Amino acid sequence: MMEARTVRQRIDVKWDFPVTFTHAVFAPGNPALVETLHRLGENRRHRAMIFMDGQVASALPLLAKQATAYFAAHPQHLELVAEPQIVPGGEAVKNDFGLVEKFMRLMIEAHLDRQSFVIIVGGGAVMDAVGLAAALVHRGLRQVRVPTTVLGQNDAGVGVKNGVNFLGGKNAIGTFAPPFAVLNDFDFLLTLPDRDWLCGVAEAFKVSIIRDRAFFDELVASAEKYPARDFAVMQALVVRCAEIHLEHIRTGGDPFEYGRARPLDFGHWSAHKLELLSSFRISHGEAVASGVLLDSIYAARKSWITEAELAAIREGLQRSGFRLWFAELGQRETDGTRTIFGGLRDFQEHLGGELTVTFPRGIGARHEVHEIDLALMERALQELEAFASSR
Ligand SMILES: NC(=O)c1ccc[n+]([C@@H]2O[C@H](COP(=O)([O-])OP(=O)(O)OC[C@H]3O[C@@H](n4cnc5c(N)ncnc54)[C@H](O)[C@@H]3O)[C@@H](O)[C@H]2O)c1
Ligand SMILES: [Zn+2]
Repeated sequence: MMEARTVRQRIDVKWDFPVTFTHAVFAPGNPALVETLHRLGENRRHRAMIFMDGQVASALPLLAKQATAYFAAHPQHLELVAEPQIVPGGEAVKNDFGLVEKFMRLMIEAHLDRQSFVIIVGGGAVMDAVGLAAALVHRGLRQVRVPTTVLGQNDAGVGVKNGVNFLGGKNAIGTFAPPFAVLNDFDFLLTLPDRDWLCGVAEAFKVSIIRDRAFFDELVASAEKYPARDFAVMQALVVRCAEIHLEHIRTGGDPFEYGRARPLDFGHWSAHKLELLSSFRISHGEAVASGVLLDSIYAARKSWITEAELAAIREGLQRSGFRLWFAELGQRETDGTRTIFGGLRDFQEHLGGELTVTFPRGIGARHEVHEIDLALMERALQELEAFASSR
């Protein structure tokens, strides 16, 4: 019998993507985009295609023209191979795999190659769906993200993932694909509906509670300024929150999540399920705000955070204008169990291996647990409902 022979193989791959904060990204005098596409100093015109969130295009009717004019103003470095493609905005774009196929067809028909650029202008949902298409065509085109929501700029857009919903599973299909670059243009935030303006604030609370006490204190101190649409305060939030997410990806030791833990998904096991149970009427950020408070109540009942820390989280989220209870959280299966608890199974299945859920341990630090006491979580849900209805 032949002896087994193993050739050991180890590959280290380096990724390097700048995240630039700017205003008026398509103004002809703003060098950020052309410098970004040209940053490797390659001596050619960079071929690019733009995919634009339909709601952004409606809110800014001149945007597609401005983007086209930007390319025309930089003919030595840039070439736009097609008119900007307007795509459906919001979660709908992630619920129809046919759209991903359509985006891939457009990229292939435009003869984009692996050194061409796909520029995605839109919310987290559009970036996730178009990003998946861009990652699949020729095994990965260069992707430049121009996120247009708070959540897109401070979380989804600066991450390394894409994905769409499939067979009733949130983000059931997707890849890990770091962008070539990210351009966060604050001006896009000005046209957001109030609801989407707030959503990214939930992710800021999430990340501050498990990673950064000083940032959490700032969020609580500024809470009323978010629903009041204080632009300067929101810009500061976006920058700090994006920095913390980037730092986690850079230093966390597992950017592509081969391990089972997903520390940045604190409060997300229930949030993902809540989005699904509401057929996505509840948005990701809204569901995260509620999920963060639910898991914070559980953490307090386990004495992982103090009563005062829980009160600060509760007040901070509430004063930021979040609705914290949704009827779907009360939904029960025929055997009486809360339907939302199915989120724990989905979470485990998505990550693989043992159930791992991240909780705060004090504010600014975290730990992982592998078992959830459902009776205690049931009481945490009751407490959440009682708090929300007392307001
Ligand atoms: N890939 C990741 O790492 C990651 C991380 C977090 C969240 N996500 C995903 O991101 C999605 C949520 O993203 P989101 O909060 O940006 O919501 P979204 O993309 O659904 O956008 C919210 C709404 O605002 C509209 N919109 C976007 N920009 C606008 C603007 N500037 N002016 C007016 N309207 C605008 C959109 O068309 C949509 O209707 C979820 O699907 C979530 O799962 C992905
Ligand atoms: Zn999230």
